[in-house]
Amino acid sequence: MYRLAPSLLSADFARLGEEVENVVAAGADWIHFDVMDNHYVPNLTIGPLVCKAIRPLTKAPIDVHLMVKPVDRIIGDFIAAGADIITFHPEASEHIDRSLALIQDGGAKAGLVFNPATPLHYLDHVMDRLDLVLLMSVNPGFGGQAFIPATLAKLTAARARLDACRRESGRDILLEVDGGIKADNIAAIARAGADTFVVGSALFGAGRNEDPHRYDTIIARLRIGLAAAGA
Ligand code: DX5
Ligand code: ZN
Repeated sequence: MYRLAPSLLSADFARLGEEVENVVAAGADWIHFDVMDNHYVPNLTIGPLVCKAIRPLTKAPIDVHLMVKPVDRIIGDFIAAGADIITFHPEASEHIDRSLALIQDGGAKAGLVFNPATPLHYLDHVMDRLDLVLLMSVNPGFGGQAFIPATLAKLTAARARLDACRRESGRDILLEVDGGIKADNIAAIARAGADTFVVGSALFGAGRNEDPHRYDTIIARLRIGLAAAGA
C-alpha cells in the first residue's frame, strides 16, 4: 500500500550502480531520479544517459522527477532511457496537457509536481490524464532540506481530490511526497494522505560505507513509521 522511493540525489555518484542495487536489495520500491537543469532550479544533476546506465541494474520502476524548463524536448530521451514514471512541474511547461500526453503516448506513467506554493488548481482539467501527483515538501533544487509543515494540509486537500476522482471514475492516482522525509515524520505524512515517499538524505546519509546493512535498518525504521500510520 505504501511505496518508498529513494532519491539518488544523495547517493554516492562514484558508486551509483552499487547504490541502486543496494537500496533495492534493502527493500526500496522505486528509484527516484532527480533531473535538474540549472535553469528551472539552481542546481545541475543527471540526465537520460545516467538513467539508461542504471536501467539494466534493477526491475524497480525508475521515477523521473523533471526539474527542467522546457519540458517536452527531453521526455522522449527519458522514455528511450527506460523511465517508468515521468513527472514535471506545471510552471515549466507551456502546454501541460500536451506534456502529459507525450509521456503517456511514450508508454510511461505521467504526473504533475507541485512546489510548496503552487496551488492545486493545476489539477482541475487534467485529472483524467494523471497517474500520479507529487507534492514537494521542500523547494526543489537540493537534498537535505527541512520538511515544510504546510505540506500536511495540502496533502489532505490533494487526497480528497484523488479520492473523489476514484469514486467518480474508478481511477487510482498515486500521491507522492518529496523532501525532508525521515523516520520521525513519515507517519504524520502518511496520515495526511500520501502513499509514496521520496527519501534522499535520510537514507543515503553520512557514513554510507561503514555498515553494509545500513539501508536495511533505515528502510525498516521508515516502514515502522508507516505501520504506525496505518494503525
Ligand atoms: C529536491 C529533490 C528531492 C531530494 C529529496 O529538489 O526533488 O528528491 O532529493 O531529498 P531529501 O529527502 O534529502 O529532502
Ligand atoms: Zn525529487
